[in-house]
Amino acid sequence: MSDFLTAFFALHHGLPRQGVGSDATTRRLLELAGPLPARPRALDLGCGPGRSALLLAAEAGARVTAVDLHQPFLTELAAAANRRGLTDSIHPVRASMADLPFRDGSFDVIWCEGAVYHIGFDTALRTWKRLLAPGGVLVVTECEWATDNPSGEARAFWAQVPLRDTAHNRAAAREAGYTVEAVFPLPDSDWFDEYYTPLSARLDQADPRDPAMAEAVAASRREIELRRRHGSEYQYTGYVLRREEDDRLRQRLAVPGSDLAASYPPHWLIDNAMGPNPLWLTETLAAAMTLTPGMRVLDLGCGKAITSIFLAREYGVQVWAADLWIDPTPNWERVRAASAADRVVPVKAEAHALPFAEGYFDAIVCVDAYEYFGTDERYLAYLSRFVRPGGQIGVSVPATVTEWDGDVPAHLRDYRDREFHTWHTPQWWRRHWAKTGQVEVERADLLPEAATHWRRWEEAVLAAGGDASEDVVRLLRADAGRTFSFARLIARRTG
Ligand SMILES: C[S@@+](CC[C@H](N)C(=O)[O-])C[C@H]1O[C@@H](n2cnc3c(N)ncnc32)[C@H](O)[C@@H]1O
Repeated sequence: MSDFLTAFFALHHGLPRQGVGSDATTRRLLELAGPLPARPRALDLGCGPGRSALLLAAEAGARVTAVDLHQPFLTELAAAANRRGLTDSIHPVRASMADLPFRDGSFDVIWCEGAVYHIGFDTALRTWKRLLAPGGVLVVTECEWATDNPSGEARAFWAQVPLRDTAHNRAAAREAGYTVEAVFPLPDSDWFDEYYTPLSARLDQADPRDPAMAEAVAASRREIELRRRHGSEYQYTGYVLRREEDDRLRQRLAVPGSDLAASYPPHWLIDNAMGPNPLWLTETLAAAMTLTPGMRVLDLGCGKAITSIFLAREYGVQVWAADLWIDPTPNWERVRAASAADRVVPVKAEAHALPFAEGYFDAIVCVDAYEYFGTDERYLAYLSRFVRPGGQIGVSVPATVTEWDGDVPAHLRDYRDREFHTWHTPQWWRRHWAKTGQVEVERADLLPEAATHWRRWEEAVLAAGGDASEDVVRLLRADAGRTFSFARLIARRTG
C-alpha cells in the first residue's frame, strides 16, 4: 500500500462510518426495499467496518455476507459482531466486488452504501444481477450531481470520479435490467454527523510532519471544504432496484384499483399467502374502514402475517397478528424482515380463546379466516367484545353468489369434498350478524370481479411454481363466477 493510502486509512480507522450515510438512512432504505423474506440472505458489498451489515443483521434478522478488500475493516466488523452477539449472522469475506465468488441467485438482498463507484454504477449493476434470487432486491447509494450547472470548483474536484445525475442513473438501472422501485436522496446530515465531523477532529490531531499524512489531511480538508461551500450541487442518492423479470409477475398478480397491494414484491406475496391475494383483500377491507395511524388492530387468523405487515406499513396501525396454525416465531422473523417490528406483535391465539382485554382494539380485521369459525351463531357476540364500542370489525371471506338448497349445483358435483358448502352470500352474513344486536352492519357486499381475480391469482401462482392447486384452478374455471366470489363484511360495535 502506498504511504498516502496508509496515512489515509490511519486517518479513517475507527471512525463511526467510512462514507456518507447513517443508520436512519439504512433503515429508510430497508423500508423502501419492501418486505424481505424471513432471515434474508444479504450481501453487503464494500461493507467497510460494517455499520449497515450490523444493522441488517440486528434489525432485519439478515444473514449477511459482508465483503470488503481491506482486511482491517473486516476484522473490525467481526469484533463488533462478536460484541453484539451477531457472530452467527455476519460472515466477513475478503474479496473484490468486481469478482465475487458466489453462486447465481444466492442473495435476497444486495446492499452497497457509498462504495459502488469503485467499479462503476453500470458495471456493478450488470455484474451483480446474477447474484439476486428471484424476488431479490439491490440497494445502492451513489454520489450524483444535484444541479445542471455545477460550479467549476465542484466539477474539478469530481473529475476523478465523474458524477452523473439521477435521471441518468435511473436510465442506466433500467438499461441493466432493473425496475427502479425507489429513489431516496440522502440528507445533508449524512455527510457530516458520522463522517466529516469526526473526520475533521482527526485531521486537527494528525501529525503534519509526516509528508504522506500531510497530503492525506490536505485531501480530506479539500473534500470537506468543498461540501461546505458547494454541498447543494451534489448529493448521495439511494436506489432500490428489482430484477425487471419480477415486475412481470407483479403485474400479473395486480388487481386493478388495489395499487398498494400491487406494489409488494410478488415472490414475497406468493411465498407467504395462504389464500387468494391476501393484500388485495386487505386493501379492499381497509378502503371501507377507518384505520388511522396508531390504532390498535387485531388481525385474526393472520396466517403468515403478511396482512398484518401490510396494515402496519400502509396505514400506520399497531397490529396484533394472531393465528393458530402458524407459529409466532417465524411470523416475527417475517415482521422484522419487513421493517415492521415496531408495529406488529405476533401471537399464537385460538379464535375462541383470545388472550386480550375486552374493548382493547380499535378495529378487528380478519382476512380469509372467518369462514373457519365465524358461521357459529355465537361467535360474533364473543369476538365483538374485544373491539371498543364504536370500533369496526372487517371480514373478508370466500362467498357464494346465491345460497343453494339441497345438493350442490350440478357443475360443482365433482368437487364435493371441498369446503364451499360452508360459504355464504353477503346477505346471509348480514342477517347472521345483524340478529346478534351487537353490531350495526355497515357493509356486506361481493367484491367486484372477485371470481376473475381469484382465478387469475391461482393461475399465476401455479405458473410461478407457488403453492396453488390445479384442482382449485379447474373448479374456478368450471364455475366461471356463477357461484363463487369474495365477500366484504364490515360492522361497527354498538353495544
Ligand atoms: C386461509 S388461511 C389465511 C391466512 C391469512 N389471513 C392469509 O390470507 O394469508 C386461514 C388462517 O386462519 C387461521 N385459523 C383457522 N382457525 C382458527 C382458529 N380457530 N383460531 C385462530 N386462527 C384460526 C389459520 O391458522 C390460518 O392461518
